[in-house]
Formats: sequence, structure tokens, C-alpha cells
Amino acid sequence: MAQSMKITSVSTTPYEDQKPGTSGLRKPTKVFLTKANYTENFVQSILSVVKPNQDSVLVVGGDGRYYMKDAIQIIAKLSAANKVGKLVIGQSGILSTPAVSCVIRKLSATGGIILTASHNPGGPDADFGIKYNISNGGPAPSQVTDAIFNESISLKNYETCSDLNIDLETLGKQTFIVGDDKRTFTVDIISSVNDYVDLMKTIFDFDSIKRFIKTKDFKLRFDALHGVVGPYARRVLCDELGCPEDYLAHCVPKEDFGGSHPDPNLTYARDLVVEMEKGIYDFGAAFDGDGDRNMLIGKNGFYVSPCDSLAIIGANHDAIPYFRKHGMKGMARSMPTSGAIDYVAKEMNVGFYETPTGWKFFGNLMDDGKLSLCGEESFGTGSDHIREKDGLWAALAWLSILAHLNLTAEEVVKKHWEKYGRNCFTRYDYEQVDSSSANQMIEGLKQLVQDQSLIGTEHSSCGQTYTVSKMDDFEYTDPIDQSVAKNQGIRIIFSDGSRLIYRLSGTGSSGATIRMYVDSYIATGSENLAAPASEVLKPLVEIALKLSKIPQLTGREKPTVIT
Ligand code: G1P
Ligand code: ZN
Repeated sequence: MAQSMKITSVSTTPYEDQKPGTSGLRKPTKVFLTKANYTENFVQSILSVVKPNQDSVLVVGGDGRYYMKDAIQIIAKLSAANKVGKLVIGQSGILSTPAVSCVIRKLSATGGIILTASHNPGGPDADFGIKYNISNGGPAPSQVTDAIFNESISLKNYETCSDLNIDLETLGKQTFIVGDDKRTFTVDIISSVNDYVDLMKTIFDFDSIKRFIKTKDFKLRFDALHGVVGPYARRVLCDELGCPEDYLAHCVPKEDFGGSHPDPNLTYARDLVVEMEKGIYDFGAAFDGDGDRNMLIGKNGFYVSPCDSLAIIGANHDAIPYFRKHGMKGMARSMPTSGAIDYVAKEMNVGFYETPTGWKFFGNLMDDGKLSLCGEESFGTGSDHIREKDGLWAALAWLSILAHLNLTAEEVVKKHWEKYGRNCFTRYDYEQVDSSSANQMIEGLKQLVQDQSLIGTEHSSCGQTYTVSKMDDFEYTDPIDQSVAKNQGIRIIFSDGSRLIYRLSGTGSSGATIRMYVDSYIATGSENLAAPASEVLKPLVEIALKLSKIPQLTGREKPTVIT
């Protein structure tokens, strides 16, 4: 018997700070826990924009972090009262970000709500986040997030079925009768992994990867950093590819990610690097809290930079059945990402796009059939199989390439450099900088953009001289809907093509994070081709720090993280 639920309208006070950033609303968990109706207000704002009806289906899930299950109960109460027909929720609330995208697309759902703060730490003293994805499975574009924000600042009431509680553990349907008009509200608890793994099987040739692993005794180490990828990695590696359990590290999701930072980079996924340096494992991968990021490490700790990874998947895409079937429609990267993929796109004569930071800018291009492969320097790689970046997909893409070429990861990367040249890349992050000095730094650079006084000037360091040929604040016009994104990062471009980029993070939960990116091209045949990136980029980093005055303005001698 379906339970009958009453709808109540609860008056509430709007918040001024519920503006979604690069990827959803992210705040310290405490804000969600202590500010009255903070979650209810934001969820109501989403629902007010979605304007659901009995045919509306929303997919809900998250990365397992602290407060996720409470937030899902709130979403269920408000969804029922706001006339949503059905919620499809991952068991125990668990769905990786790529899995949500996959399920939205598979069900032709209205959209989805993802409970994650991605790679930010979790727990009562860390971060929580809520993100809305639209019917193509991708992050809501700015028009939608702006509309949600506008609702949030003027909200007076939210509608709820306060007595409604759902069972997140039992697979299958639960139905409720809602309101005076006795509408049916359905909740369907689905396997967290099935749909996603089924999709992977249509993209990759699991049999040939399995054969490769077995015949070469190829040893893997997948580190989920206690994030959501654990159960997906277990299913794919152990159940599908026949690998032993001990190839999995930190694959039990934890509410606080074991107290660490679930961000797969050389600093926070150090453990994987150390394990790989021992020379036992042939290929390693780490993933972030919600499973959309990846870091790849070859035998003996050989680091595959995300920018190179993207270019290499592009150059070897015919190793992947999905691309063989659907063709390579085009390639794209976010503006700060190194230009490595540019050379591949050019050589293959396929469309190429340079977009602002954030995955949401790839969606329109994919929906329009212009884009098959894209990525960001921030450990994000993906294709048009879904509308989010996809960590496990990237690892499987690499396994396919390694099996196809029968080479080690290091050999694949070095051969790529020999053919296309190498883009040396680094990113300096200054986390939790005082907002006013961060703004002062950006304003100073904007002034230089405005007066164009740096053009033609020469800058020397460590015996190298660079001449500024262009300086701007990156602006992007979406080729499909003509929407314009302004102020997407300051670029200083030198006559040899080297680039310095500065922007403020849009995903932090407090203070400001400055990101400084350096990208420099080394031509094939150069004796520097395989030199450590930090050495190659030393002069440009010095110039970048001097031009931006980051150390003086922030008082920081060193960045928090270098990738
Ligand atoms: C960061 C990355 C960006 C990525 C986003 C979400 O955003 O730089 O590439 O899309 O996280 O994972 P930022 O904090 O720089 O705004
Ligand atoms: Zn993420």
C-alpha cells in the first residue's frame, strides 16, 4: 500500500550566497548543517527552475560524503511536494558523477541532482556540494545556474512532504500518494554500478583488455582515494577483467575519504606514486571523490600529464571500439590546458575547440555532433559517451591503448613527444589566499590587458628570453547558442607560443584560490624533449611570478600545490 503524504509550504529566509560556481554549489558542510533550511532553499530553487510535472524524472546520487544521505531525504521530500513524478536514486545514495550522467541519458530523464564537492575533502569540518545536471546528462549551463541563483535570493517558501522518508538501501520501487489531488510519487532505487558498467562494455573491448592483462601478467593499481570509484573499480577490474582484489587501493568509500583530500594529483595521491615507484605495478590510476577525475602513472612512477593523456587518447583513438564505430567528430580542451591536443587535431584534420574552464562548455558541442573527445589539465578527460568527465573511462582508454600498441605507458608518451613535439605544462595553485589580495593580483593583470603595455616587451630568466606577443582576458562565444562567457582568465602569450594564464578558482568553498598555468612547446628533435617539466619551465615560472606579483601580493613564497 502506497503511503499518503501531505504537502506543506514552509516559509524561509533567502540566502545571498547560493551562487553555483564552476561546478555546482560548494560550501563548508557546516553551512549546510547549521544555516536554517540551507539545503531546502537550494533544492527548492533548483525545482522552481525545473518546474517539474508528473512526467519528470530526476536522477539523484552522490559520492558518499558526509551529509549526502540527509540531503537525499530532503530532495525526496521537496521533489514529492514539487510534483516530480519519479526519482531514480543509486543504492545507498551512491552514484559517481559519470554514472549520474550515464543514467540521465539512458532514461532520457529530466535531469539530475548530484551530491558532491568533487575533489574537496568531506566530513563535518570539510565540504559538501549540490550540483544540477540537465537532460543531456551534463552540468547545467550558466543560463540555468543563473536562474537557480535568482530563485535562491528571492525565495520565500519551500514546498515539502515532511513525513516522507525513503529507504535508500532496498533495490526497487517505493510509491507514495501525494497531496489533495492524490498524485503518485515514485522512488526507484537502482544499482549504483550496473548501468555505468554496461555502458563501458559498449565502449571498450573488455575481452581484449582482459587477454592483454592476463598474457602479459600486467599488474594494475587503481586507487579510489576512498571516494565513489571503489565499487565501480571493483566491478570492472575484478569481476569483468579478472584482476585480483589487491589491485584495488582505498576502494571502500568513506564519508570523510579517510580524512584526506580525494584529489588525484601528485600531492594528494602521493601514495599511488610511491607504490608505482616500487616498480611492481605496470600501470596505476587514481580517481577523485566523485569519480570524474583521473591521474595516470606508469611503471616506476612515470607521470602521464593529463594534457598529454588527452592528446595521446586523441592520437590513438582507433584503439577504442567506440571511436572506431562513431568516428572522431572533433577535439576540445579548456583554455588553460596545454596545446598538446591541438597538434593531434591539426594532423588528423578534425574540428578543434578551445573552451573556458569547466566541463559545462563541452556539452553544446557534443550535443551538436561536433565533439567526440575533450579534456582539461585538471585531471579531467572524457568523450561524448556521457556529458561529464569520466575517470574510469580514461583509465580504460589507456588500457585499451597499451593493449593495442603493446608498449609501456612511458614508451607511449615518449613516442608521442617524438612525433608531435611536447607541451611542457605546470599549474601552481595558491589555496585559501586572502580574497582582496587575489583580486588585487587579477586587477593588476587586467590593467595590463587594458593598456596593452606588455606587448613587444622582452622578459629574461635563466638565460632565456621571451617576447610578449599577445595579452588578453579570455572570452568564448559558444558556436551553437552564441552565448558569451567573458573574463575566463588572463592570458600572456609569447612569440614562441608559450603561454602564461592566471585565473581565480570557481570551486573553492572559502577564501580565494589563485591558479597560474604555464605551457611551453618543445619541438621534436630538441635535446630537452624528455627533460623534467620543472626544469624546462623554470624560466617561464619565474617570469610568470614576476609579471603577476603573486609572491608580493599574497605573501606566499610557494604555491600550495604544483601539478
Ligand atoms: C576546477 C578545475 C576545472 C574543473 C573544475 C571541476 O575548477 O580547474 O578545470 O572543471 O575544477 O572539476 P576551478 O576551481 O579552477 O574553477
Ligand atoms: Zn570530481
